Amino acid sequence: MYENGKEPQIVYVERYVHGGYGIGKLPGGKLVLVEGGYPSELVKVSITEERNDMAFGKVVEILEPAKFRRTPRCKYFGTCGGCQLMDVEYETQLVLKREIVQDQLRRIAKLETEVNETIPSDLEFGYRNKMEFSFGFRDGRVLLGLKRRNSIEIVDVDECPISPTSFNKALAVVPEIVETTKVKIYNPVRRTGTLKHLVMRYSHSHNQTMAIFVTKTETFREARDIRALLLRKVPQINSIIHVMNSSDTVVLRGPYKTLYGSGVLEVEMDYEKFQIPPTAFFQNNHHVTNKMIEHVVKSLELEGKETILDLYAGVGTFTMRLAMLSKFVTAVENAHIAVKAGRANANINNLRNVKFEEADVEEFLKSYDGSTDVVVLDPPRTGAGKAVCKRILELKPKKIAYISCDPATLARDLAILKEHYKIKSVQPFDMFPQTYHVETVVVLERIM
Ligand SMILES: C[S@@+](CC[C@H](N)C(=O)[O-])C[C@H]1O[C@@H](n2cnc3c(N)ncnc32)[C@H](O)[C@@H]1O
Repeated sequence: MYENGKEPQIVYVERYVHGGYGIGKLPGGKLVLVEGGYPSELVKVSITEERNDMAFGKVVEILEPAKFRRTPRCKYFGTCGGCQLMDVEYETQLVLKREIVQDQLRRIAKLETEVNETIPSDLEFGYRNKMEFSFGFRDGRVLLGLKRRNSIEIVDVDECPISPTSFNKALAVVPEIVETTKVKIYNPVRRTGTLKHLVMRYSHSHNQTMAIFVTKTETFREARDIRALLLRKVPQINSIIHVMNSSDTVVLRGPYKTLYGSGVLEVEMDYEKFQIPPTAFFQNNHHVTNKMIEHVVKSLELEGKETILDLYAGVGTFTMRLAMLSKFVTAVENAHIAVKAGRANANINNLRNVKFEEADVEEFLKSYDGSTDVVVLDPPRTGAGKAVCKRILELKPKKIAYISCDPATLARDLAILKEHYKIKSVQPFDMFPQTYHVETVVVLERIM
């Protein structure tokens, strides 16, 4: 019996598109987005969803494989939702990501701009600075792993090749430790239990590892026992944190207690130092972040006399280098913990020409009446949006650097900015090897 009672269809995959799908046509011409199919392949597809204008499907058989296919290094590939491209040679992953960016700019922003070749990651595996693992409970056993694609079901993993070694050591022992202490695992359907996630963070420059236990409730009586057992089994861990987070949609948010260690991660890039608190955002790939900071300041061709607005600044990842090379930087960020860290990071780097504003970017820009030579913006996946982009147009900066982790929202926002700006460069970076995700830096110059 076929899935959905429907016979699989033969599809020729034409392109790879945003979201991690191969795209092709069903007999009759309807577009189909195929999970697990790559350009140039002939595949048999089981249709999982059919809409009026398009369909979704999964490859059930590869009839003619692409030359760039390879054996994935991870035993959970295909089941775990974390990686989508591990069965593709690395060089081709870079090509596909460039094409994703090109395709989104063309279709959504109507921009026929040259997109540079994707800048690779120094590390193809073991590159992650942070991994968010979820706890589960099945047949009397504690599970720890990542979600299946488009599902809340947990794939129990005892190793993850894109993680650094210390994360894998923790993955191998934490379920047993948690079972020993009998802490109740949170059930998101019934909304009962305590322990939800283990978030691991790592500093590649300082070889520091932080283990963060996220609970639904404030009480976490088992914390002391977990701490003792974990430190015995994974002595590489430098900090252990307990985060209390009642939200079921965001993993890492809320008040926290340091159970062991300094409670901050130290990171050093080529020219700047950072202290990162447990719940603040930081870019996920150390070496690529370093290259991206360099690219942003070089492309902006700073002369040292500019005033800069750094929007969605986080702990100041771009702020510090921008301040070293300009007159003044105003950094805007709405997460209190990140703003506090950003101010501390400016001090650590001896920078006096930086001001951190704790504010929502849209609200801040509404009342901002200063002028600015340059705007740098690095919004979350949802993008900056219409109101922020329109306000940037009104502020008339000479240059803009837009850093994006989502080519679709980037293209949507560029469609607004292009009214008064021309694109100077579009540079994809491979921040997330083995996945379809791509980071892009677009530098724009004012034309009127
Ligand atoms: C993609 S991160 C970039 C952070 C920083 N530029 C970096 O490279 O590490 C986006 C940041 O924007 C912040 N943020 C999200 N929505 C915001 C908003 N509406 N106003 C201000 N900051 C916001 C988040 O807390 C996060 O720190």
